[in-house]
Amino acid sequence: SGTVRLAVIPGDGIGPEVTTEALKVLEAAAPSGVTFDQTRYDLGAERYLATGEVLPDSVLGEIREHDAILLGAVGGKPNDPNLPPGILERGLLLKLRFELDHYVNLRPSRLFPGATSPLAPHVLDAGEIDFVVVREGTEGPYTGNGGALRVGTPAEIATEVSVNTAYGVERVVRDAFARAQRRPRKKLTLVHKTNVLVNAGSLWWRLVQAVAPEFPEVSVDYIHVDAAMIFLATDPARFDVIVTDNLFGDIVTDLAAAITGGIGLAASGNVNPDRTAPSMFEPVHGSAPDIAGQQKADPTAAILSAGLLLDHLGHPEAAAAVERAAIADMADRSPGATRTTTEIGDAIAARVAG
Ligand code: NAD
Ligand code: IPM
Ligand code: MN
Repeated sequence: SGTVRLAVIPGDGIGPEVTTEALKVLEAAAPSGVTFDQTRYDLGAERYLATGEVLPDSVLGEIREHDAILLGAVGGKPNDPNLPPGILERGLLLKLRFELDHYVNLRPSRLFPGATSPLAPHVLDAGEIDFVVVREGTEGPYTGNGGALRVGTPAEIATEVSVNTAYGVERVVRDAFARAQRRPRKKLTLVHKTNVLVNAGSLWWRLVQAVAPEFPEVSVDYIHVDAAMIFLATDPARFDVIVTDNLFGDIVTDLAAAITGGIGLAASGNVNPDRTAPSMFEPVHGSAPDIAGQQKADPTAAILSAGLLLDHLGHPEAAAAVERAAIADMADRSPGATRTTTEIGDAIAARVAG
């Protein structure tokens, strides 16, 4: 029981639409005695275009004082000359992940009954799709190390340097092992590109080997990222916990979403396991400008992300209720039928309440 201080960042495009539904379900699932004290932050494209502000330090300081963050999506209209690519992605989303030390970007991937996978029937018959990607969230090529020289000339050179620290890799690897240990199959797969990215690859591989003896029950596997794409499409049942770097994890999890029923179902948590700052929960998808404002977005990913938030805050039963309601809703979906964002949110909230 008690008050949960929740920072809400609806963001851009379909972000506000799906966040409304996630909050609806969160309220319906709140354990008795728990109230959500919400603070809304109007960060995103609109604010940037109006004021030039992306994430003022004072706002970051306020957000830090919350127990958790629920985020919709960020990203403005494509090719807006006033909004260069990356301004919001780097200045808002990645800044939050870095500043709040969200080193575990947790992306569960399950094919729920009722969700439609594009994979061939024989692939799906081979076993359940139920794995979780532990994507490193604070390093890799995302840190902004690099630069551009002689821009616009034929001699232009552009670099983005992938930063991998022993500290950063070891902590995410240990978290992934601990998650594998808690799962029935207890299997950890490192996905990397050690055959080409030999410096970072060697570090990741050595730290996996170094941490493994702490988790003797966990079996360890390694797959190059390109081959991992083959297995995601041909034998996804082989995966249990995947640990990988920030960029590979980004790519892997969009494919993982696609094979488990689509990006509208994929939830994520940007977790600070040490709890030195609030963790942030958001769908894997973006602002989807192509369908924004039309009530076409599936809010299930945002709703399942709110479930992850409940679990993180120590309410596993409420989290399970959200997941059960979303699963039941998916199971009832008839192919071809379309519902609005609000209709799906209402239906899942009603199942949670009932
Ligand atoms: P996207 O995920 O926004 O959209 C990809 C495709 O999936 C689109 O066709 C879209 O309509 C569809 N889609 C996405 N979410 C859906 C949902 N809930 N229901 C139904 N369909 C859905 O990716 P994008 O087009 O590459 O990026 C658009 C913008 O979002 C960019 O500015 C990008 O930087 C940003 N982005 C933000 C986040 C985030 O905030 N976490 C994540 C990814 C992309
Ligand atoms: C995601 C997004 C972000 C990422 C972008 C928008 C910075 O694609 O959350 O998957 O690459 O992490
Ligand atoms: Mn992504």
